[in-house]
Amino acid sequence: MIDLHTHILPGIDDGPKTWDDSLALAKALSEAGVSEVAATSHIKPPVWPNEPQPLADLRAELVRKLEALGIALVIHPGAEHWYCGAVLDSLAEGGGQPYGNGRAFLVEIHPNDDPPLFDERLYSLQRQGLKPVLAHVERYRIFEGKKGRLRLRGLVERGITAQINLGTLGRGFGWARGGNAKRFLMDGLVGLVCGDCHSSDDVPAAYDTGLSALRKLGGESAIQRLLTRNPRSLLAGKEVDPWQPA
Ligand SMILES: [Fe+2]
Repeated sequence: MIDLHTHILPGIDDGPKTWDDSLALAKALSEAGVSEVAATSHIKPPVWPNEPQPLADLRAELVRKLEALGIALVIHPGAEHWYCGAVLDSLAEGGGQPYGNGRAFLVEIHPNDDPPLFDERLYSLQRQGLKPVLAHVERYRIFEGKKGRLRLRGLVERGITAQINLGTLGRGFGWARGGNAKRFLMDGLVGLVCGDCHSSDDVPAAYDTGLSALRKLGGESAIQRLLTRNPRSLLAGKEVDPWQPA
């Protein structure tokens, strides 16, 4: 499996505090069957103003430590970009930290926000060749209810990828708008499922409970599409199709 949403680099956001914590998360993910991750630390100035070069240095350090410990986990570039003018402008100018070959990028908004010109700004980045991936769409007020689902469908039909968290699927309905995660999945809107793990403690909720819930809802075809094929396509900057129930 390939997990394109992890907070695995130490000391730079709300992920692991130390290298030991970071390596414990890497080990837990690897033991859960994850072979590749994107290190998507937050880029959220001024709280977490992470820049590409320090992120690259930390990824290289992590790769060295994983090799020394014999942990087989590939680390891809990435970041969880905060939706705000400054961060979007920097992505438009070739900054930020997209995935893999530099086209797809992960972006989050505040759960209760309804940013002005949200859809238009994403479309404008698409016209520049970028591919937005919306992080944990199940959390957002703008996608609540029937009107919200229609809005999300509109974005997905324009080639924007909707990501949900494995942990939310496992928690079922009622938590963090967890019902939305299942509904979006069964409506065929979801193109990517990730762990969004911040520590090794998050791994069982994602890769035991959450993965079982995904298997129950969509079978092996959903796991293959959402945790292997589509992540690989996003790393290569290719189009992805949301998983559709049979
Ligand atoms: Fe995250």
